[in-house]
Amino acid sequence: MDSAHTCFVHRGLFRSNPAQFINVVIRGTNDRVVAETKGENQKKSGEKDLRVLTNKKEIRHVDEYHYPGSLQIDYWFGKSHLVTHLHVTPNDTGKTSVYIRMGLQFGFFTRAIYPVIWLITRKVVKQDRAILENQQRMISRMGKRSFHHSLADMSAVMLSDLYKSGPRANKPEWEQEENVSFKL
Ligand SMILES: [Fe+2]
Repeated sequence: MDSAHTCFVHRGLFRSNPAQFINVVIRGTNDRVVAETKGENQKKSGEKDLRVLTNKKEIRHVDEYHYPGSLQIDYWFGKSHLVTHLHVTPNDTGKTSVYIRMGLQFGFFTRAIYPVIWLITRKVVKQDRAILENQQRMISRMGKRSFHHSLADMSAVMLSDLYKSGPRANKPEWEQEENVSFKL
């Protein structure tokens, strides 16, 4: 749910240098955190990344975390849609398994775009894995976590808080809303 990492970890592939202010509305309920990004467009800086597939349409992006370890990521570009489901489960100290399924709908171009998305996703996952393994090595070496957050990863903070506290089943109406703006 940390959109800002894509500009650095997946630079030139998924996104590029942060160049445009976007608004994110983040809502936390008793067992979910939902973050909706608005105002993102294919950049005019000349840098090419996956957003060229959007044909300059505004990108609507929703991340939805469900306690304890599921995430749905939706991207809409006009009528085109890309959805990703991730299910995460710990399997040993410092080791986590991540299961990913994706679906896409690009109308007439769906079959043509499928192998492109498949190849890019494999590369994106490889980049995420390298970062997470490096982070885990540092946590193991230091013996503890020491995370520092910024406005850009507010949704990850809310996710982390919910994960630690557990679902608030006795307060179904509980809701927290944050509006943040940062460059993406
Ligand atoms: Fe990533």
